[in-house]
Amino acid sequence: MSQQSLNPRPLIAGNWKMNGLQAAIGELNALESGLGSNPALMATTDIMICPPATLICAFAAAVGSNASKIEIGAQDCHWQASGAHTGDISPEMLRDAGATAVIIGHSERRSDHGELDRKVRAKAEAAYRAGLKAIICIGETAGERRANLTLEVVKRQLRAAVPDQASGKNTIIAYEPVWAIGTGLTPSPADVQAVHQEIRDALKERFGEPAANNMRIIYGGSVKPDNAKDLLLTSNVNGALVGGASLKAADLLGIISAYA
Ligand code: PGA
Repeated sequence: MSQQSLNPRPLIAGNWKMNGLQAAIGELNALESGLGSNPALMATTDIMICPPATLICAFAAAVGSNASKIEIGAQDCHWQASGAHTGDISPEMLRDAGATAVIIGHSERRSDHGELDRKVRAKAEAAYRAGLKAIICIGETAGERRANLTLEVVKRQLRAAVPDQASGKNTIIAYEPVWAIGTGLTPSPADVQAVHQEIRDALKERFGEPAANNMRIIYGGSVKPDNAKDLLLTSNVNGALVGGASLKAADLLGIISAYA
């Protein structure tokens, strides 16, 4: 299947979460050499790795010196540029370290740190200010899905968490059902398609058709090499946010090859 003309171009982003010591650069090197030996993979797909903050500098330097096109992203940011916020990192600092994007509002941030949509939106606006793309995560819990509230929840999150300045250039929407993250469970491809269609329609209503059609809507939650084709080659799915399976270059290459 030729995906050369896919528009917007798919993005496979690896979210390493709180995993990886300095030696993990070996996986980045393995990913680069895997991509180098199969140019069809990067011809069709944008690739990003979001390592923990401690590795951003080293990873950005490594991909820069190899002239690789792998982008390096971060997993969270503060909404201010600098100041008295012990332990936090501003988007300007992430940019300075070599990141080009930042994941915002991941469900683990929402549950571990009580982040609400209002804060997610402020962080996304801060990312734009620093020239970073914002990967804004939305998705329903298991209880919300059981109560048939999935579409309502994602539309509410979109309205509240996505800034008015969002465009295809600065924003990627990640639909991540909370119950599918790290569990091995996934929605059916038809369910993914239905939610992504609803997200696309909501974006069209708010931002107009051309802008909405340019905005990538990626799926996340237990994406693996063996389910990637089924989940990703579906209309309105423009890539994936991959957690566990992004830690091993071979698995991530298997997922990327869904588009080759
Ligand atoms: P998973 O995580 O692929 O391990 O389910 C996805 C995510 O949290 O982004």
